[in-house]
Amino acid sequence: MKRLGVNIDHVATLRNARGEFHPDPLLAAKFVKKAGADSITIHLREDRRHIKDKDAKKICSLKNILVNLEISTNSKMINKAIKIKPNFICLVPENRKEITTEGGLDLRKNKNKIRSIISKFKQKKIRTSLFINPSINDVKISYKLGSDCIEIHTGRLSRLVKSKKDYSNELARIKKCSYLAKKIGLEVHAGHGLDYKTTQLLSSLKEIQEFNIGHYLIGESVFFGLSKVIKNFRKIIK
Ligand code: PXP
Repeated sequence: MKRLGVNIDHVATLRNARGEFHPDPLLAAKFVKKAGADSITIHLREDRRHIKDKDAKKICSLKNILVNLEISTNSKMINKAIKIKPNFICLVPENRKEITTEGGLDLRKNKNKIRSIISKFKQKKIRTSLFINPSINDVKISYKLGSDCIEIHTGRLSRLVKSKKDYSNELARIKKCSYLAKKIGLEVHAGHGLDYKTTQLLSSLKEIQEFNIGHYLIGESVFFGLSKVIKNFRKIIK
């Protein structure tokens, strides 16, 4: 059974736009769980542009909700993540000027650092995932570093599909990586830029066990929630 992880960072983006309390990511996490997601994903960025420390602490302390915390390899962030105690951690690269996570980790450059981070998480029994580009070499390195899972960056595939360009090579790359990863014992996840069409395409790959979806899913929820909320206001002002 494939699992769905819902990334609620952009509930925090909306809340932060007013600097107040609504909509509350903690409440969103509870809603998302009730609606049938298998896990909640939050990214505590170094610049705290959406999820804040308080959100992460509260969400990770919820009982019966599996939380996947995305975090950079910065040592302060790693210590913070260990204190917050999520169920899962996904290591991601961070670049101050990016709009969103632009690519996978540079595993070759950061091998020793990542190996030692993974072993720290293992001691705390936290499942670790590495966010990587669809590269065979990175799959092999992830395995050697002792990661439990890889999350394949699907941003490029999503961009090609959305702009109606030929995506066959990128999909083939993702297929090859998923196949190899599963074969050598890594759990395979996919995430970034996923919408209905790209998720449909990737769900035909039996090796992918988990999808982590954020921006599009939250955007769609606005459309599907609008009529109910407008009715609520109609009732109030009648
Ligand atoms: N997976 C990872 C590792 C990410 O960094 C992100 C973005 O924070 C996502 C999934 C979700 O991407 P999107 O918001 O584009 O669905």
